[in-house]
Amino acid sequence: MAKERVNRVVVVGTGFVGSSYAFALMNQGIADEIVLIDVNKEKAMGDVMDLNHGKVFAPQPTNIWYGDYQDCRDADLVVICAGANQKPGETRLDLVDKNINIFKTIVDSVMKSGFDGIFLVATNPVDILTYATWKFSGLPKERVIGSGTILDTARFRFLLSDYFKVAPTNVHAYIIGEHGDTELPVWSHAEIGSIPVEQLITQNDNYKKEDLENIFTNVRDAAYQIIEKKGATYYGIAMGLVRITRAILHNENAILTVSAYLDGQYGEKNVYIGVPAIVNRSGIREVMEMKLNETEQQQFHHSVTVLKDILAPYFD
Ligand code: 2OP
Repeated sequence: MAKERVNRVVVVGTGFVGSSYAFALMNQGIADEIVLIDVNKEKAMGDVMDLNHGKVFAPQPTNIWYGDYQDCRDADLVVICAGANQKPGETRLDLVDKNINIFKTIVDSVMKSGFDGIFLVATNPVDILTYATWKFSGLPKERVIGSGTILDTARFRFLLSDYFKVAPTNVHAYIIGEHGDTELPVWSHAEIGSIPVEQLITQNDNYKKEDLENIFTNVRDAAYQIIEKKGATYYGIAMGLVRITRAILHNENAILTVSAYLDGQYGEKNVYIGVPAIVNRSGIREVMEMKLNETEQQQFHHSVTVLKDILAPYFD
C-alpha cells in the first residue's frame, strides 16, 4: 500500500500565539509534522522539547522539530505568528510599520526555499499583513489566508449562545470587516437555529436590543480587555488557527470568516478583509457573499476604506 502523504505545518514565530497554536495543533492531532522557526532560537528549541514531552498523550504521533526556512520547501502550510504585538492602549493598526518590515524578511525567506503551499497569517494588523504576504510572495490570492474575523465570530457566537442559552454550534452569526475597531456584526443574517435574532427580540420581552448592542461592543473590545488583564491574547486565536488548518489539511470546504481577497464581492476590490469563505485543501475556494442591509454595507465599506488607506503608502 502506498504511504499516505505526510502533512507539514511550519510555524514562524513562537511567541504566545505561535506556541499556543503548536500546542493546540498537536492536541487535536491534525498535522504529521510541525516545524517551529523563531529568531529566538532558544525559546523555540525549548518549545520543541516541551511539546515533545507531551507527545505520548497526543491523539496521534506528530513529529516536531526546530527548523529553518529550508523546511518550508515541503510544507503544506506556513503559519506566520511572528511580529510585535499590541501593548495596552495600542490598536492593531498601530503595529503596521514594525510588522510589515518583519514580514518582508519572513516571506522572502519562505519563498526562497521553493515553498509552494498555503500561507496562513495571524499577526496583526492581520488584514494588512495578509495583503502584504500576498504581494511579497507572488502566490495566487486563494493560497494566502488571514485569520481575519474568525476569532471575533467565535467571541460573538459564544456571547450569543450564553445570552440565548443555546449551544454555540447552534448560533449562526458573523462578524465581518477589519479584524479590529471597524469590524461589524451582520445582524441581518444572525440566527439561533433557523430563527433570526431580529425576530427573537421582537417576539420575546426577555431579549433586548441594547443587550445585543452590548454583546457586539464586548466582542469588538474583547482583545483590549484581555490585554489589560494579562498582556496578550493567545488561546482563542490559536484554536481559531487550528480550525482553519483543519479545514485546509482535511479538505473540509468549511465556511469560516477569514481574511480573504475581494475581487468585486461586496462591491469591493484589491483588499484582504474578514468575510465568510469556503476553505479547503486549495485554500480559499470561494468568498460567500451575504446580502447585507444598507447600514451593514456602509459599515463594511468604511472598514474597507480604513484598510485601503493604511495599505496605500506601502503598495500603491
Ligand atoms: C485578538 O483579537 C489581539 O487580535 C488579537 O485577540
